[in-house]
Amino acid sequence: MTNLLNERRQRLMHTFSPGSVLLIPSAHHALRNGDVDHAWRQDSDFWFLTGLDEPDSVAVLSPGRGGEEYVLFVRPRDKDAETWTGRRAGLEGAVATHGAEKAYLIADLEKELGRLCEGAQEVAWVFGRDAAFDSLVLRAVRRHRTHPKLRINGPDRLTDLSAALWPLRLFKQPAEIEALRQASEITSEAHHEVMRLCEPGRNESQLQAALEYVFLAGGGERVGYGSIVASADNATILHYTENRMIIPDGALVLVDGGCEVDLHTADVTRTFPANGKFSVPQRAVYDIVLAAQLAAIDACRTGKTFHDVHDAAVHVLTEGMVTMGLLHGDVATLIKENTFKKYYMHGTSHWLGLDVHDVGGVHDVTSLEAQKASKPLVPGMVLTVEPGLYIAIDDLGAPEALRGIGVRIEDDVLITEDGPDVLTRGCVKQPDDIEAMVRTTPRWVKPVVI
Ligand code: GLY
Ligand code: MN
Ligand code: MN
Repeated sequence: MTNLLNERRQRLMHTFSPGSVLLIPSAHHALRNGDVDHAWRQDSDFWFLTGLDEPDSVAVLSPGRGGEEYVLFVRPRDKDAETWTGRRAGLEGAVATHGAEKAYLIADLEKELGRLCEGAQEVAWVFGRDAAFDSLVLRAVRRHRTHPKLRINGPDRLTDLSAALWPLRLFKQPAEIEALRQASEITSEAHHEVMRLCEPGRNESQLQAALEYVFLAGGGERVGYGSIVASADNATILHYTENRMIIPDGALVLVDGGCEVDLHTADVTRTFPANGKFSVPQRAVYDIVLAAQLAAIDACRTGKTFHDVHDAAVHVLTEGMVTMGLLHGDVATLIKENTFKKYYMHGTSHWLGLDVHDVGGVHDVTSLEAQKASKPLVPGMVLTVEPGLYIAIDDLGAPEALRGIGVRIEDDVLITEDGPDVLTRGCVKQPDDIEAMVRTTPRWVKPVVI
């Protein structure tokens, strides 16, 4: 791991000239209420480059600065504080365990930053994520520019580090792919357990509990994002997270959840009938979404672009909308005029890795849309493929039998020389396999009636 982290730092530093200074702050604890914090999770950029799982730390990379190429600012060891809130690496651990050439106390950051930035032509960090950090860096730069003795005019350039750093995270190395594979396997089994546990009359919360139990009991670290357990027309709310309704008989249940391994997350959605049998209209919608997903996965190949994957899904979905009587007219026109967005209003994919909506855009275009559209798929990239159809319960323009149906099917795909490698292929999605899974006895959790 130490070698991998060092290699990442070296690769990043090589994209800058000697004398540049790169700053990477950790996450901070976020207050939830009173003196209680939200669950801790390290900043992905900081983790990617340091492997240090502590708040209130900053990594400084200075290519070409002998003896101080890799500096860590950390909290001091403090027996009392460590009794309350956990172990700290301290100055010694930052060097001995985490490979920094020098370590300083985080309290001295502003002062030392002034020194480290002295004479630097370029100072880079990811702008706009932490207002306090942005101000601190600008204060340090200003202090050294206006220092009566120094009167140095540098740095010439303040650079957004994301342009250099995020492409490194976009192309996954073997260790990252292995973490994603493990997260995918645990997540797939957790979705199976949810299907096994489900029957009409259970609360959505019980399925969430089973999902997240298998995440942790199966070796995952935490959820990669808030789990969605949406039954009946709750499934037509894209970011439904209440997860508190009794599941009615005859309902579909849409579950979108993934766990993290080594902070890399899976992102999987399955939709299944609560009673183990799709109704005819539910099955019609499901079959179209599945066909769209398979077509989109097939487009996950070198030579195609991120946008081609979306186009493949949209084409099949829009044809299906016409077949089912949701839309009327010519498929090409319905796509061109974005009419399909009434029932498919989100994108088909996002990058996946340390963040569920992972980084990796290039900064040579001005909009996110253009960035993704122009992105050719290359081995090592991992993206989700997650088409869906969402028919609002009060949509009087839709055939009555379809109203209130929401279906999404989501898998995680690694681009390889040999085509798409579906990391989450272990999770059943053929309708017959899903129905059989719902009828199977749970393996991990004991069903209880509440
Ligand atoms: N679970 C978030 C997403 O699918 O994008
Ligand atoms: Mn997703
Ligand atoms: Mn998802």
